[in-house]
Amino acid sequence: MKKTRYVLAFALCGLGALAHAAPVANLIPLPAQISVSGNAFTVTAQTPIVVDGNDAEARHAADYLAKLANSTRHLPLQVKTGAAEAGAIVLKRDLQAPVANAEGYALDVTDKGIVITARDEAGLFYGAITAWQLLTPAQGSGDVRVEAVHIRDEPRFAWRGFMLDSARHFQTPDEVRSIIDQMAQHKLNTLHWHLTDDQGWRIEIKRYPELTRIGAWRTPPRVGKKDEPARYGGFYTQDDIRAIVAYAAERHITVVPELDMPGHAQAAVASYPELGSTGQRPAVSVDWGVNPYLYNVDDSTIHFLQNVLDEVMALFPSTYIHVGGDEAVKDQWQASATVQARMRALGIKNEDALQSWFIGQMGQYLTSHGRRLIGWDEILEGGVPASATVMSWRGTQGAIDAAKLGHDVVLSPSPQLYMDQMQSDLPDETTGRLPAQTLQNYYEFEAVPKELDATQAKHVLGMQAAMFTEHMPTMRHLQHAVFPRMDALSEAAWTPVKQRDFRGFVERLPAQLARYRAQDVGYADSAFAPSIEVDRNAAITTGHAKVTLADQVKFGNLHYTTDGSEPGASSPLYVSPFTVTVPSTIKAVSLADDGTPLAAARMRVIDLPSLRTRTTGELENCAGSNFRLRVQPTPDATSMAPTYLINVFDNCRMYRAAKLDGIAGIRVDTATLPRNFALAHEAKLVVAHKATTPQGELVVRLDSCKGKVLGTLPLPTDTPATFTLQGALKKQVGTHDLCLVFTSPITGPIWGVGAVTLLPAEKAGP
Ligand code: ACM
Repeated sequence: MKKTRYVLAFALCGLGALAHAAPVANLIPLPAQISVSGNAFTVTAQTPIVVDGNDAEARHAADYLAKLANSTRHLPLQVKTGAAEAGAIVLKRDLQAPVANAEGYALDVTDKGIVITARDEAGLFYGAITAWQLLTPAQGSGDVRVEAVHIRDEPRFAWRGFMLDSARHFQTPDEVRSIIDQMAQHKLNTLHWHLTDDQGWRIEIKRYPELTRIGAWRTPPRVGKKDEPARYGGFYTQDDIRAIVAYAAERHITVVPELDMPGHAQAAVASYPELGSTGQRPAVSVDWGVNPYLYNVDDSTIHFLQNVLDEVMALFPSTYIHVGGDEAVKDQWQASATVQARMRALGIKNEDALQSWFIGQMGQYLTSHGRRLIGWDEILEGGVPASATVMSWRGTQGAIDAAKLGHDVVLSPSPQLYMDQMQSDLPDETTGRLPAQTLQNYYEFEAVPKELDATQAKHVLGMQAAMFTEHMPTMRHLQHAVFPRMDALSEAAWTPVKQRDFRGFVERLPAQLARYRAQDVGYADSAFAPSIEVDRNAAITTGHAKVTLADQVKFGNLHYTTDGSEPGASSPLYVSPFTVTVPSTIKAVSLADDGTPLAAARMRVIDLPSLRTRTTGELENCAGSNFRLRVQPTPDATSMAPTYLINVFDNCRMYRAAKLDGIAGIRVDTATLPRNFALAHEAKLVVAHKATTPQGELVVRLDSCKGKVLGTLPLPTDTPATFTLQGALKKQVGTHDLCLVFTSPITGPIWGVGAVTLLPAEKAGP
């Protein structure tokens, strides 16, 4: 299990050193060039950080380094001005610095000290971040010995982005700042801020106060039920935004605001119904998915949005302004005589071209104000302004098409770079979409599609992770989804392709996890956590269970106990599947070579009831849609657990390979979940099942959803938040799949299945 701690370091330009084996500094993202030679330097609380007194930018980077070192390592470094000296950490701007890129820097550690040089302020800042990483993660206070490294570093991509959706769930300004801090520590430079959507308008616009008086608030479904607030929302005042933009700028992060149009406009139309095309005032939406409300195409609406853009441009100095453009279903435009008349008057042939005209209006306006338009890849449909930049989210095809047409592109494909995708199939994983996008998937995503030739590839500005927050109601949810996948993103966006190495990255990651702990960042340990699998049916038959342990990244040393005691380095080391008698309690932990835990210990009880149980994540979809989503009990519930894995298209779950010998009943732990999903044209795909009572029932069928009925359990007429269904099953022998189908009306709730347990005769009752 011993891990290799060495990788090839690359030859340094100028130094002429050949590649040689060297210990890796725990840096993420890995620098473009790093080598180790010479004697180490020890940083103590007396080591000064020295900058030239006339260089305000160097001072800024130095202050940032001192602050980070102090807050995460309790190393109270002091910044002083003066000439470079030995025994110090020196930051200096130098037009002769050996890295030309404005974001590049050189960093040399020798026994005389640490010297960071860069031509520009951004480079010095990134050099300071690297220096901080070299000083961490040693815990507590005290001296730190830094190996002699020589770094020449610059980013691969100019756009290293993170998208934050503050519309579906709202983060406080301090929470946004905490995300900006983490972006800075990962050398990301673009915060794409999704500020408006159907479920909330989050930016104060002085000229149109209803946008936040009405549009920032929604009334949750199941309001008044457990964990659901009476109203949900919030918005950022213009002062909040100015402060956040300035905070980001100090960390070399540009904030690109997004106002989504012409679709995802329901909160705006709820605020000012005259912006819509139905004449109706909708409520601010509580439905995730694709809502129907579009802005209309009247001159007054275009002017309204341009007035909004005036205030937006005054707040955000970014070159780019994002106008969304995604998922605008055109039904309301098709149904509106006014929109149709306007379309004809403009000589526009169809609604896609009308959207293109709409986006074009915004593009011209932005261009005339010295800004550039960026939008999701739907802006390509029906033609797009030549100067527009395209953000590819429906896979990579949008980027390929756009780059071939000569547009700049940013890669933010779903599902590869979507952070609302879950990151493992572990039973205790919290909310999100499936399939899981693991740390390795993130790391290995290549932003330059191979379909592009060298000239077209130059249009790839970079890449960006998208954090849509429908299922991330709190910062804990969000942090779990983002970290450490942000590390994988940062390395994919920064480090030259030829240096990317997932194994080396994983070896550097435990140091980063310690930095997270020092900053109280609730990262996911999913990549390192042990899974505990059991050969269930054989265990039921024989009374002996075969147990298999694994961790997603195959990195840790897995130690386990079988008696419920806490596992540690002295517990047995897992080498291959082992057998325990039923009942037993397995606890497993994943340890680094030095014995530090890589993830919280995981536990599995192996007894007859648990062997006969499938929990929510172990139940599969029935045939048909492969949509799978893990949700919280109510849309705004703040808890991380329980969660329910659902398919909004078919309220039906498969219990695979049920061992039915001796089974006489079934128990289903159930939750009443709101059906708050707007499915647009896909609504017709929702499967209705024939019920025998008005409220419907849970029907259990043998082998498939067309199979023989084994049991029917009536659903409650009221809708308690959670309840248990229990009933008899006709006796069977052998091992069969079971289909559990809810026949209740598809206008009613979705039933979340927490767990299904098969009951032997003595437990099933008469
Ligand atoms: C998107 O996910 N609708 C951009």
